[in-house]
Amino acid sequence: MCGIFAYFGPNDKAAEIVLKGLKKLEYRGYDSWGIAAKQENGDIVVEKHVGKISEVINLNEKLEKPSHVAFGHSRWATHGGVTEYNAHPHTTENGEVVVVHNGIFENYLELKGELISQGHQFRSETDTEVFAHLIEDEMEEGFEAAFIRATKKVEGRYAVLAMSKDENKIIAARRGSPLIVGKGQDGAYFIASDVPAFLEYTKDVMYLDDNQMVILDKDGARFFNLPDGKQIEKRIISIDWEEEMADKCGYPHFMIKEIMEQKETISRAINLDSELLSEVAEKIRGAFGTYIVGCGTAGKVAMVGEYLFAEIAKKHVNVKFGSEFGSAKSFLKDRSLVIAISQSGETADTLEAIEIAKSKGATIVSIVNVETSTMARMSDIVLPLKAGPEKAVASTKATTSQIAILTLLAYAVADDLNTGRKTLIEAEGKINDMLNPRYEQHIEAASDRIKDCSDIMVIGRGSNYPIALEAAIKLQEVSYIHAEGFAGGELKHGPIALISEGTPCIVISSNDEYQKEILSNAMEVKSRGALIIGVGPEKSEIYDYWIKVPDALNASPILNIIPIQILAYKLAVARQNNPDMPRNLAKSVTVK
Ligand code: M6R
Repeated sequence: MCGIFAYFGPNDKAAEIVLKGLKKLEYRGYDSWGIAAKQENGDIVVEKHVGKISEVINLNEKLEKPSHVAFGHSRWATHGGVTEYNAHPHTTENGEVVVVHNGIFENYLELKGELISQGHQFRSETDTEVFAHLIEDEMEEGFEAAFIRATKKVEGRYAVLAMSKDENKIIAARRGSPLIVGKGQDGAYFIASDVPAFLEYTKDVMYLDDNQMVILDKDGARFFNLPDGKQIEKRIISIDWEEEMADKCGYPHFMIKEIMEQKETISRAINLDSELLSEVAEKIRGAFGTYIVGCGTAGKVAMVGEYLFAEIAKKHVNVKFGSEFGSAKSFLKDRSLVIAISQSGETADTLEAIEIAKSKGATIVSIVNVETSTMARMSDIVLPLKAGPEKAVASTKATTSQIAILTLLAYAVADDLNTGRKTLIEAEGKINDMLNPRYEQHIEAASDRIKDCSDIMVIGRGSNYPIALEAAIKLQEVSYIHAEGFAGGELKHGPIALISEGTPCIVISSNDEYQKEILSNAMEVKSRGALIIGVGPEKSEIYDYWIKVPDALNASPILNIIPIQILAYKLAVARQNNPDMPRNLAKSVTVK
């Protein structure tokens, strides 16, 4: 949700470095972009535009002048439409103070009213612009003091960076939205919303925690607590991601590259340390209520977890979407356990659920991809996905790794981890067999049949019900076709009225106790004109088109979602959508 990148250092092409870094963060927001660079005469030059930063080849010639200090922003609009005025950076009337921001200043209307009554003039409709004016208002004791005062006035979750014409520095603060500092060579420093943006320069990073501030200037990177401004030391962490992991490696899009990577990512998830799994299993057994929490796809993974724990471990767990976790408040105790699922580890709704759980003394386990994320750092135990950077907005490889880890956990709770690993290792071999060009072509043919439809239904039963919900998210996100997932048995209670001649209905099945029933549901919709696309291990005469998925026992949900990921990708490409950057979405949702 908005990408921020900053450079301070010896290279005099700061604006170009920022442009390059921002391009790598575009998946976080791609409505509009802007860069501010401080030039050697002290002037701050700003360029901003509506549109995608990936399409920018050259910067405005003013930004090509030597500069050692610059920052930029790629926007996912929250307050104010997608216009050049609303694009970041935002400046004060005289251009003395310049800011970029990710998140929301919740009290901005009140602050804006006060600032206008004092004579400040606003040019944008954003919440961000207030921060520049607040700094300007407090400048008499210098930029640093003014910045700290401004942070005391704003409410909400944010990451904010500022530059002032008077001083050669960048100041940044964080409360709820990610900011990472990279330490490069020869006194160069970077700030970014996500690590891959500066991986080509450094793997040495320092994480800014909530209510902390960093100053980049000739003295290096100095960190402070907020609001007291007390200086603190930061540990340098070395990241083990390779730069090429965050590149497309010859694929046309990140989405298909990440789908194909599932051949390897599943095995990394399966190799999760047994002791760690047993430790969490013990906590689940002894917990006064276990809650699995996530949002979007991660929320659907949590639902799959409920079925896996019931089937494998005969254990009840509660499932909540992050944004709905508040209703669990009254039941949480210090013996409760919360398992948070997330790719980014930065999703605001899930973080808030964790905050609620922590306030009740509950233990937090997170299943996350970004091991150094806020969520991981808030957790008592982290089960890492090790899937490498996931850059396409639509989650694919992180999803299957999350389900794999929940499967292992369920087996660990049943005290049968060996069977769990064996089941997953066999499933991994089957995924390898599936992910080949012929399989892709077969799914592309299905995509060709349905690419012009206006609605798609997806049905499943048992653990394939949440997979049907996840399938619908994948289809919606990148194809922009209206898609909805249903429990097969629920069709007759209403949704069947939506079926008309030719409506595609994807039927997800496994070799399980629900197979006969889901086929009956498929028949019910077929008799009303639906085009049936079967996804599962057994062919049926009911299907108009069959996408075979090998039987993988309790690992079937992992395999069943993969052809739908490919179908969603093929539909996006056929409909000329950019699957990596779907409209209105952002990779990591850091606002509530
Ligand atoms: O980073 P997270 O896994 O916490 O993200 C949660 C959702 O925003 C995310 O899964 C979203 O639904 C994806 N775009 C789905 O593909």
